[in-house]
Amino acid sequence: MPNNLPNDFISNLEQIVTDKGLIVEKNEIRPYITERRGRFVGETLCVVKPATTKEVSAVVKLCSDNKVAIVPQGGNTGLVSGGIPFAEDRAIILNLSRMNTIRDLDPINNTMTVEAGCILQTIQDHASKNDRLFPLSLGAEGTCEIGGNIATNAGGINVIRYGNTRALILGLEVVTPTGEIWDGLRSLRKDNTGYDLKQLFIGSEGTLGVITAAVLKLFPSPKEQQTAFLALNSLEDALPLLNMAQSMIGDALTSFELIPRIGIEFSQKHGHRVIDPIEAKHDWYILMEASAGTANSFLPDLFTKYMEKAFEEQWVLDGVLAQNKAQSDSFWLIRENVTLCQKPEGGSIKHDIAVPVSSIPTFIRKANAAVKKLIPGIRPYPFGHVGDGNIHYNLSQPVGMDKQAYLNRWEEVNRVVHDIVIDLNGSISAEHGIGRVKVKENAHYKSSIEIKLMQQVKHSFDPLNIMNPGKLIPSIQPKK
Ligand code: FAD
Ligand code: MLT
Ligand code: ZN
Repeated sequence: MPNNLPNDFISNLEQIVTDKGLIVEKNEIRPYITERRGRFVGETLCVVKPATTKEVSAVVKLCSDNKVAIVPQGGNTGLVSGGIPFAEDRAIILNLSRMNTIRDLDPINNTMTVEAGCILQTIQDHASKNDRLFPLSLGAEGTCEIGGNIATNAGGINVIRYGNTRALILGLEVVTPTGEIWDGLRSLRKDNTGYDLKQLFIGSEGTLGVITAAVLKLFPSPKEQQTAFLALNSLEDALPLLNMAQSMIGDALTSFELIPRIGIEFSQKHGHRVIDPIEAKHDWYILMEASAGTANSFLPDLFTKYMEKAFEEQWVLDGVLAQNKAQSDSFWLIRENVTLCQKPEGGSIKHDIAVPVSSIPTFIRKANAAVKKLIPGIRPYPFGHVGDGNIHYNLSQPVGMDKQAYLNRWEEVNRVVHDIVIDLNGSISAEHGIGRVKVKENAHYKSSIEIKLMQQVKHSFDPLNIMNPGKLIPSIQPKK
């Protein structure tokens, strides 16, 4: 039984969520306190899995009365340890997975109302069964939950056309740190009646309240997709290629992903059925995709013309146009493995940065030079969402170097890379958020006025600082 809890706290919890919703046994708790990439294992007093918004409200009220901290959690796929409490937090985990009802889909209004614990893939599938598209798509979609996507303002591979999660939410239902239920589940595209409160909760990483349901924007489902895998002449050529895609293909363009040679090599070494679509080896690749609302559309011809022009301008050295869905899926399998296949190569120091799109090549060249000076033999592994200026600038340990010795240098390396990002007017977190991992870096680079304003917002919502303490911004100690 967890210790240092107010007495009868657990029995009160049991009254609220019944036995199915309360986990106190250490070994059953383990999956909830282990960070996805296994870097961190946290600690918690217990895991509470409410089934309804009312239960969430009652749990939060109980915690607020007893000053017990709460870490809201969805699919626990976060990459900055935002959903994991550490011992010093003396927190319960409030896991939303049992709240996974799709409450409504309105095809005329193009909205879907879902509970926070709905898995992203389930939402995507339900939309397409109703001839609609919910466009948020990321590598963890089989496990991550919409509550976590909203709390982290997740991005993914379709941001270039549909925006990140922030652009896809019309209404929210939230339980505040005092346990009150705010029903903001409006499905209007226009509503000018005061502060847009939902925007405060989107990207708040569980620090302002528990998101229990949301109204999502739906889009017409694509009737045709075209995918291409291109070998770049140089990294710099990604920019005119993107520019030409935006003028020739326009907003039909949905993805424009950068893949390095090393990503293909790691994927072929550690991945499954990963085939390089282009014979010769090149340094850089672009995986791009567009979709149209009508079948037998203009896309195939357009892509052919686009590629002819790209060859003419010598921006590409080779390229393959997917002839069918299976081939398009094989290109996306490479992209998925680029993310997953870095891990077996040992320690990785990660960055999820954004710079102005036009600065991507400059950033990569400068950062590569800087980190190689810092740690000779380090292996830069830059990939990601070019159209959003978002590069996952990951760095694999030098072959032969001790993994822990390498990882122990992550803060020094982060600072060198982030200094280059800030010099280029970028951001040290593009889509994964700040969580616990980047709190210090965020406080280092953000202006004091920005930190102060965020702390004032936090304090006005959560004066007791029980909502996900120690995440996102430096905590201000609650008034005694
Ligand atoms: P969790 O990890 O459970 O929690 C994340 C944060 O949200 C925590 O701070 C938590 O406290 C808070 N939270 C969770 N649920 C709620 C709630 N209901 N109310 C309030 N706060 C809540 N991210 C991207 O943006 N783009 C990508 O392309 C991408 N690719 C990924 C690929 C892989 C293989 C993996 C493992 C992760 C990837 N991620 C990506 C990161 C991660 O999937 C996202 O951050 C996702 O949105 C987290 O959702 P989750 O349900 O797992 O949240
Ligand atoms: C991705 O785009 O694959 C992820 O955001 C990067 C990651 O998981 O490191
Ligand atoms: Zn990403």
